[in-house]
Amino acid sequence: MKNSVTLTDNRNGNSYEFPILNGTMGPDVIDISTFFTQTGMFTFDRGYTSTAMCRSSITYIDGLKGELMHRGYDIAYLAENKTYLDVAYLLLNKELPSKEQFLEFKSELKKRSYIHEGMMKIFDAFPSGAHPMAVLQASVSALSAFYSDHLNMNKPEEYKEMAMRIIAKIPTLAAFSYRHKKGYPIIYPNLDRGFTENFLYMLRAYPYEHVDLKPVEIKALDTVFMLHADHEQNASTTTVRTVGSTHAHPYACIAAGIGALWGHAHGGANEGVIRQLEAIGTVDNVDKIIARAKDKNDPFRLMGFGHRVYKNFDPRAKVLKSMCYQLLDEIGINSELIKIANRIEEIVLNDEYFISRNLYPNVDFYSGLILKALGIPNDMFAVIFVIGRTPGWISQWIELKEQDTIKIVRPRQLYVGHTNRTPK
Ligand code: ACO
Repeated sequence: MKNSVTLTDNRNGNSYEFPILNGTMGPDVIDISTFFTQTGMFTFDRGYTSTAMCRSSITYIDGLKGELMHRGYDIAYLAENKTYLDVAYLLLNKELPSKEQFLEFKSELKKRSYIHEGMMKIFDAFPSGAHPMAVLQASVSALSAFYSDHLNMNKPEEYKEMAMRIIAKIPTLAAFSYRHKKGYPIIYPNLDRGFTENFLYMLRAYPYEHVDLKPVEIKALDTVFMLHADHEQNASTTTVRTVGSTHAHPYACIAAGIGALWGHAHGGANEGVIRQLEAIGTVDNVDKIIARAKDKNDPFRLMGFGHRVYKNFDPRAKVLKSMCYQLLDEIGINSELIKIANRIEEIVLNDEYFISRNLYPNVDFYSGLILKALGIPNDMFAVIFVIGRTPGWISQWIELKEQDTIKIVRPRQLYVGHTNRTPK
C-alpha cells in the first residue's frame, strides 16, 4: 500500500496524489505543498485547525489523552522533579542540563539580567498608567537598538548569545514595566537570588527594606513559568515563526509574539478568570452564575473552564491545582474570592452539564488563583505568561533558523470581493 492519499475532483474525474508524512507521535500529515501546482486550487482552513505549519521536535501535545511533553519528557515528571530553568535549558539545548550545566546556565543568565541604562529614558517616556504589556512589548523591540552587536543571525554563537539575553532581560523589563506603572522606585536585579526569586524580588522590594519571599511562593511562580514554557504551534508561537520566516531579527519576532499573546483569547484568559470571580462578588451568587453558564440562550461562559485542544483534562491544570492548594494552605489565604472559586470548581466537577461536555478547570483557572494569591496585579498576568513562554518562542525560532531552508510564511485566500468593476 502506498503511503499517499488520492484526491478525486468529482467535477471532472481528475485524480491527484499527495504523500503522507509520519511523525514520531501524533496524527499522520498529508503533504499538500504541491496542491496548487497539481490542481490549480488552494485549500481552505480557517485558523489552521487542520494544518501543520512546520516540522518540530520541541513539544508534543495529545489533546484527547491530556498529554504534554517537552523533548519527550512528560510535563508531570518535569513539574515534579525540575525547575523552570531546567525546562528552559531543555527547550533550548534538547537535553536536560547536568548539575554543572544548570549552574553555568543560571549564572550566564544572571550576568545578562541588567539592561542598558539608556533604556530607562524609554520607561520615563511612557505615561503613568501605561499597561505593563504595552511597555514590555515596546521595550523588547527597543532591545535591538540598544544591543546592536551579535546580530549576525547566520552564526549560531551569535544567535545563542541573543537567546540568552532575551531570556535574561525580559523579567527585568517586565518588573520595570510594573514598577513604572505604579510609580515605585526601580529595583535592579539581585544576582544573589535565583531566576524566579529575583523576579519576585524586583516586583516586591523597596530600597532599604527587607523583603520576605516564602519558598512556597517562589516554587508556585516557578511552576507557573514552567507550565507556560512552550505549547507547540499556538497563536503567539506561530506569530514568532511567521515573523522569523521573513528573516526579521529575533527581538522583532519576540515583540510580535508578545503582541499576539496579549489578546484575551490567548494570554489574557487567567486575568479573565480573576475578573469574573471578582464580578461574582460573593459565594451566594455562584448558583446564579452556574445557571447562566448552562443557559443555551445566554452567551455567558465560565472563565477558566474548557479547552480547545485538551478534551479530557488539561495536564497543566492537574499540576497547578495541587500547587495552588499548597500555596493557599501555606500562606493561609481564604478570601471570598477563593471561596467562590472553590464552590464553582466543586459544582463543575459534579454537574452533568459540564461533565458531558468535558468542561473542567483549565490551566488559567489555577494560574489566575496562584498569581492573585501572590499579590500580582491582574494586568501583570499576561506579562508573567510572556516570561514563562520566552524560552519556548526562542527555541522555536532557533529550530526555524536551523532548518535547511526557511520558507516565508505566505498563506493564500478565498477571494470573495468584487470582480472587475468598470468605473462609471
Ligand atoms: N462555560 C460554559 N459552557 C461552556 C464553556 C464554558 N467555559 N466552554 C464550553 N462550553 C459549552 C458550549 O456552550 C458548548 O455547549 P453545547 O454543546 O451545548 O453547544 C460546549 O461546551 C462546547 O463548546 P465549544 O465552544 O464548542 O468548545 P471549544 O473547544 O470550541 O471552546 C474554549 C474551548 C474556547 C476554551 C471554551 O471552553 C471557553 O470559551 N472557555 C472559557 C474561556 C477560557 O477559559 N479560555 C482559556 C482556555 S485555556 C488557554 O487558552 C490556555
